[in-house]
Amino acid sequence: MTDDQPTDEQSPSALSHLPVLAAEVLEALDPQPGDVVVDGTLGGAGHTRLLLKAGARVYGIDQDPYALSRLGELEGLTIVQGNYRDMQALLAAYGIQQVDGVLLDIGVSSFQLDDAQRGFSYHTEAPLDMRMSQAGESAYDVVNDLPTEELAALIFEYGEERHSRRIARAIVAAREHEPIATTTQLAEIIKRAYPGGFARGIHPARRTFQALRIHVNDELGALRSGLDAAATLLRPGGRLAVISFHSLEDRIVKRFLKSRGDFEALTKRPVEASDEEQQRNPRARSAKLRAARKLPEASQ
Ligand SMILES: C[S@@+](CC[C@H](N)C(=O)[O-])C[C@H]1O[C@@H](n2cnc3c(N)ncnc32)[C@H](O)[C@@H]1O
Repeated sequence: MTDDQPTDEQSPSALSHLPVLAAEVLEALDPQPGDVVVDGTLGGAGHTRLLLKAGARVYGIDQDPYALSRLGELEGLTIVQGNYRDMQALLAAYGIQQVDGVLLDIGVSSFQLDDAQRGFSYHTEAPLDMRMSQAGESAYDVVNDLPTEELAALIFEYGEERHSRRIARAIVAAREHEPIATTTQLAEIIKRAYPGGFARGIHPARRTFQALRIHVNDELGALRSGLDAAATLLRPGGRLAVISFHSLEDRIVKRFLKSRGDFEALTKRPVEASDEEQQRNPRARSAKLRAARKLPEASQ
């Protein structure tokens, strides 16, 4: 959902079920009774509930087994565990070759951020993990194994952190004494290495944590492949809506839509949350929605 960590003034539990840009997503996807829609990032099913209410049949994909285990049954919803980048194969298993709409609300959910044990947050002590799918390389492996240069490059590229080299050197120096095992241990190392210390409102570890999360979950790779998969799966006239939360993601979506001759934009500029929604849900502040319609075959 966001690269933002919950700040102290936010009550995380109060935010857990607020789907971002809900009305705007509905307008973009325009679900009709009987439509088949893929929600590639089911999470707490906030958006999906609205799609179901409009009469759509939803295939809800999420790679996080914990997120899925929290969901009860919803009429019209088929829950699919997996990565949305594989949506074609995942839906083919249900005999679905074409869909009317695809929604991606990317990133981590409030639920994942708020669950200390997942290791996404630098606010609470937890093992360094950050794997949404619970499988593969964890943040612990990256932080403790990667050579300095690779670590610096990753923090720079995915965190857009200008002090990446300094942070990488501090991490490597610290791990020579003992492995960096917890979120707060890592946050402290970054804080100490950060020139200027703790600027008001922005934790020095924020960008590095974002970078590690993006790398561990291959979030940008999944987005690129997921967009290609969605474009193939959508029927002519079908609609795509993508909510992103930082510039790296939004750039990928923007370029993808520009590069396709078979899509027309439904949003000239990315749609942002209203002031009222931003007040109500601070996590909506960085949300950007882009939507497009696959052109009918005759006009492609
Ligand atoms: C921001 S939340 C979605 C919230 C949801 N729209 C709602 O209204 O409740 C993102 C969810 O997508 C999942 N996710 C992120 N990347 C994924 C991927 N590549 N494949 C499948 N699920 C993914 C996360 O596990 C998380 O549960």
